[in-house]
Amino acid sequence: MKKVILTGDRPTGHLHLGHYVGSLKKRIELQKEYDTYILIADVQALTDNAENPEKIRKNILEVALDYLAVGIDPKQSTIVIQSLVPEIAELTIYYLNLVTLARLQRNPTVKDEMKQKGFGANVPVGFLMYPISQAADITAFKADLVPVGEDQLPVIEQTAEIVRSFNRIYKPVLVEPKGLVSDVGRLSGIDGQAKMGKSLGNAIYLSDSYEDLAKKVRNMYTDPKHIRVADPGNVKGNIVFEYLDAFDPDLEEVKKLKSQYKAGGLGDVVVKKRLLEVLDNFLKPIRERREEFAKDPAEVMKMLEKGTEKAREKTAQTLKEVREAMKLDYFV
Ligand code: TRP
Repeated sequence: MKKVILTGDRPTGHLHLGHYVGSLKKRIELQKEYDTYILIADVQALTDNAENPEKIRKNILEVALDYLAVGIDPKQSTIVIQSLVPEIAELTIYYLNLVTLARLQRNPTVKDEMKQKGFGANVPVGFLMYPISQAADITAFKADLVPVGEDQLPVIEQTAEIVRSFNRIYKPVLVEPKGLVSDVGRLSGIDGQAKMGKSLGNAIYLSDSYEDLAKKVRNMYTDPKHIRVADPGNVKGNIVFEYLDAFDPDLEEVKKLKSQYKAGGLGDVVVKKRLLEVLDNFLKPIRERREEFAKDPAEVMKMLEKGTEKAREKTAQTLKEVREAMKLDYFV
């Protein structure tokens, strides 16, 4: 039997290059070999957007379009709407008893996100416990592998702990998953911040027009001390070079540019021109495919409906085993 991949994204906005290098790229490579499920995690998106249901609803389609545009193939990958899989909600309830509040509060991913969103003690309970519902996402499908951005690894670790507790206390029916991070893993924002994020306003989206892309590359953070072309420049922490490393297929040329830049005599304008070319070569076909799929949203929604149906067959089987293991199978 094929091994299973489960991964997902919150539908809170369009997907960006950070999603691509952190996770989408691996999914596309692996969808041929693995039984792949991709969750559009609307329930998780609501954990910090309870008052914005319209935003979540709208972005279900946008995220689905991003997937299709970038090369996720619905014949190979099953795309699923999370809220329509009630088995996940049920599993979450059972797992709540296997995790302590202290453990949740120590989760570095949750801690970082709470700080970023300024929650403090007023954190919604649903948000604080999202690693538990994410453990339910993963285990409902008995996933072996979870391709995610590096920042999500503590959530996968939390999932593994829940699986070990469950299997020890009840019966070994759950599968312990492994996280899988792409070679690049994390992409900085165009402003030089450590992470590209929808809410940080520093992202290049897969759906950006050429004009938007050009503007973003023009404003990209480089080496603030590199003022004159003749000055030696720093390539470390220089976002333009970070992106060239991630996207330029011509590694030799990047190496050459780097040593020129370090020695002095290579201006930001020239390097940015190359980066714009490289990124547009990458994004243009994605943009065009996206526009094609966007012409028929009903067809895309139908694909999601079919995917969700298929997913429920899988999760219903897991829940049957879970209830039996927990001695909750009263009327069989
Ligand atoms: N938490 C993930 C993110 O913010 C999204 C997500 C939801 C997910 N459910 C998942 C990722 C299950 C991997 C597996 O990007």
